[in-house]
Amino acid sequence: MQITVNGTAHEVDVEGDMPLLWVLRDELNIKGVKYGCGIAQCGACTVHIDGVAVKSCQVAAEDVDGEVTTIEGLGQPDALHAVQEAWIAHQVAQCGYCQSGQVMLAASFLSETPAPTDAEIDDAMSANLCRCGTYPRIREAVKSAAAKLQEA
Ligand code: FES
Ligand code: FES
Repeated sequence: MQITVNGTAHEVDVEGDMPLLWVLRDELNIKGVKYGCGIAQCGACTVHIDGVAVKSCQVAAEDVDGEVTTIEGLGQPDALHAVQEAWIAHQVAQCGYCQSGQVMLAASFLSETPAPTDAEIDDAMSANLCRCGTYPRIREAVKSAAAKLQEA
């Protein structure tokens, strides 16, 4: 089957029920996306399909019906996404394990909710867990990314 990731089409020879997470990490060697729980609880595996955040451990390869974007395709080193810039400015990451999923979730959330309240940020971002407890910095970074995106 064919799957498009970060703008590149790939032909992959996998079982249809293989989770997208496995396809990305094991077949395509895209390691920014992380395996945390495998059961839709942690969000470490969050990527976008046509701009919408999904937990890639819960999407079968055969059900991928759009373009997949991972953290590697969200921005580029010389042209970071506003969320990536905000993450650096606020030094959000601690161990870092959950953070690519957090960034992908935040980017999708802000595309749907450009001027969120603190409560909306907390509610949206509660879908992804951070064992290091970086939630206060996540909230500040999402707020500053929202402001930057609104200026643009
Ligand atoms: S690995 Fe997918 S939600 Fe935890
Ligand atoms: S930064 Fe360590 S789990 Fe979130």
